[in-house]
Amino acid sequence: MKIAIPAETDPGEPRVAATPDTVKRMVGIGAEVVVEKGAGVKAAILDKDFEGAGAKTANAKDTVGGADIVLKVRRPSKAELPGYKPGAVVVAIMDPFGHEAALAEMAGAKVSAFAMELMPRITRAQVMDVLSSQANLAGYRAVIDAAAEYGRALPMMMTAAGTVPAARAFVMGAGVAGLQAIATARRLGAVVTATDVRPAAKEQVESLGAKFVAVEDDEFKQAETAGGYAKEMSKDYQAKQAALVAAHIAKQDMVITTALIPGRPAPRLVSKAMVESMKPGSVIVDLAVERGGNCELAEPDKVVVHNGVKIVGFLNMPGRLAATSSALYAKNLLNFLDLLVKEKKLNVPWDDEIVKATLLTRDGAVVHPNFKPKGAA
Ligand code: NAI
Repeated sequence: MKIAIPAETDPGEPRVAATPDTVKRMVGIGAEVVVEKGAGVKAAILDKDFEGAGAKTANAKDTVGGADIVLKVRRPSKAELPGYKPGAVVVAIMDPFGHEAALAEMAGAKVSAFAMELMPRITRAQVMDVLSSQANLAGYRAVIDAAAEYGRALPMMMTAAGTVPAARAFVMGAGVAGLQAIATARRLGAVVTATDVRPAAKEQVESLGAKFVAVEDDEFKQAETAGGYAKEMSKDYQAKQAALVAAHIAKQDMVITTALIPGRPAPRLVSKAMVESMKPGSVIVDLAVERGGNCELAEPDKVVVHNGVKIVGFLNMPGRLAATSSALYAKNLLNFLDLLVKEKKLNVPWDDEIVKATLLTRDGAVVHPNFKPKGAA
């Protein structure tokens, strides 16, 4: 059983899908592990570290050639697929929504492609949940970036030269990323408030020492799906939420937005007028920018300055902590492999609920119910 770890070809992707630790474990389950030369450099892992853990290193072609399993961070491109063995299992963050052509290409290459971000949120799958492992780091990094862009100190300081007031930070969306943003901003000494549309978030926010700010009406009480995600809120709720947020945001020094609704564009929470109500020098970090943004003025991969307010729209926040995010992602993959490998052989349990939820393509076809071409059986 050969497991391949190619280098990521997207220049915006510094993460790698294995670490020396996970290589050791894969060798332990009987695999021959081949890592592409230089694959870990941007995540601070050198070829010799992988070799020390029992992997071979090779060029791109020899890495994936004949591999039974290919572990990646991002979906393989059209140019990469011809090197893969038909029938190979390919596991990555596949970003399938709206990319039907790319899914068809993977089907055409006859690989079995698994999308880690479609992992069901069940207890057994928590150790494989890449949305959680990566969002947690994104939430942390968003606050670090906000602090770096903010021209003032965060904690209250009483010095001989005068008192520095604590910064006020507001976190919008208190899921995995938001909760870590709250904890990080608190550690740095900010006074933190947070909002969400799911009632379960209130207690979590308060347990981290932040104040919860939200429109808590009947719709709010039913806003959580069985899977733990938010629903899209009614126009009426959105208007009430906007009025509450508008008054609150004007007093904030830092706003971290993390609000997402699965399969939908990100909800628009911070309007241009709200940005204009903020003091110059304030900072907004929009973690939802890849999905259209929570802030009207956020632009992908840019720091926009509007009336002295900075709106940070960095892409791939977990990639800004490439060593840590790679380590956690690689661990998620290793746990997923446990499911696919039995007695040192690739033996996919095709009927397992986790396999069914994440499998996109098999035997030349797109098989996932959400992405099957229309009209296909
Ligand atoms: P997410 O990334 O889809 O959304 C982020 C947050 O934005 C959510 O808390 C959501 O409620 C909030 N949001 C959506 N619309 C909003 C609006 N208009 N205003 C304010 N906030 C809005 O969600 P994430 O972080 O992936 O997870 C959500 C929840 O799922 C977690 O808090 C947790 O309870 C649950 N979860 C369960 C897991 C498991 O059982 N294995 C693993 C991870 C999370």
